Amino acid sequence: MTNIPDHGLQLRSKITGEGQLVLSLDEVPVRPPGPDEVVVRIEAAPVNPSDSAPLIGAADLARAKLEGSGASTRLTAPLLPGALERLAGRVGQSLPAGLEGAGVVVVAGDQARALMGRTVAVMGGSMYAQYITVKAEDCLLLPEDATPKDGASCFVNPLTALAMVEAMRLEGYTALVHTAAASNLGQMLVRICRADEVPLVNIVRRPEQVELLRGIGAEYVCDSSAPDFRLSLIAALKATGATLAFDAIAGGTIIGEILHCMEIAHLGPGYTPYGTTVHKQVYMYGMLDLAPTQLPHNFGMHFGIGGFLLRPFLERAGKDVADRLRARVAAELKTTFVSHYTAEVSLAQLLDPGVLAEASRRSTGGKFLVNTSRL
Ligand SMILES: NC(=O)c1ccc[n+]([C@@H]2O[C@H](COP(=O)([O-])OP(=O)(O)OC[C@H]3O[C@@H](n4cnc5c(N)ncnc54)[C@H](OP(=O)(O)O)[C@@H]3O)[C@@H](O)[C@H]2O)c1
Repeated sequence: MTNIPDHGLQLRSKITGEGQLVLSLDEVPVRPPGPDEVVVRIEAAPVNPSDSAPLIGAADLARAKLEGSGASTRLTAPLLPGALERLAGRVGQSLPAGLEGAGVVVVAGDQARALMGRTVAVMGGSMYAQYITVKAEDCLLLPEDATPKDGASCFVNPLTALAMVEAMRLEGYTALVHTAAASNLGQMLVRICRADEVPLVNIVRRPEQVELLRGIGAEYVCDSSAPDFRLSLIAALKATGATLAFDAIAGGTIIGEILHCMEIAHLGPGYTPYGTTVHKQVYMYGMLDLAPTQLPHNFGMHFGIGGFLLRPFLERAGKDVADRLRARVAAELKTTFVSHYTAEVSLAQLLDPGVLAEASRRSTGGKFLVNTSRL
């Protein structure tokens, strides 16, 4: 084993007992790899909506202070009122952040030599770092011509979009509804469903998002801000037969609206006090709106609402399915699963409160990429 770096910088997030968030870049030892492990020099990692909680907790970034520069950059920010109680389990712990990333294997254990020098993607939870030691089997080997930037976002959104279609088939449904559908993940889902001929009803919240999705081939796009939203959703549900929805919003009225429209789309003649016998299912897989979920009683009694997380789904689906989905992501990295970034920042720049606030905004086309090889 040669060229093993002793230490590397890693972004750490801590909440103090006094209710302060502290983000810093710490020198952490690089753990030498075991026989089936590799050390990856991480070069690119996206800021996904799911990175916000571990990174920021519930801090008031408008009152954040930035100190130092380069490797000694440090951000402190007070938590929002009431947040300290909710985050009690995190107090005093220094946590890494960054769910996924990609880079180059710089040291490989004896059984993992084939990966030496290759570009791989990794999912872990500590990708805002210069180096990471991981099991070789947890790396996704990228095609020879792929850069770390090409592969930075190849787990969280691609696999979740594929998992939705897989779950649809496993559970016996034939079409899908998706909310916040102009997201990075939503655009991948449009491309997957087109290729796999799965009818997909996209729900967005702005007219320009309708144009964006139509531009990449979406057939059914319903704008929740349009006066005829309900009618257009019912029409799309009738046309596709979709009774399964994946919802990233959670808060407010959208889940109730989808269930109601599914019920209306299947109403026959006559009256039943319990609604139709068509089963309607919504999986919440994101929490873009933290307001309470409002459910009116207008969609009968045959429905389900559940949560959906990638990891438990892949465990349930089994290794063969997970391997098949990963192989598809690698093969279609620059087409179906391409991600676009609005800005590329260094580890130290990510600690700038303005940059951090912008990177955590979760807006259409607003994804940030952290270039961990820069300071
Ligand atoms: N459960 C899992 O395992 C899993 C895995 C991967 C991703 N996710 C979830 O998938 C979702 C999409 O991730 P992404 O990286 O693709 O997001 P993204 O590219 O950052 O896009 C976020 C999208 O959500 C829209 N949005 C934000 N707040 C909204 C609200 N309150 N109501 C309606 N729309 C809203 C934005 O539209 P505007 O431009 O109009 O703001 C934008 O189109 C996130 O919620 C993420 O947490 C979950």
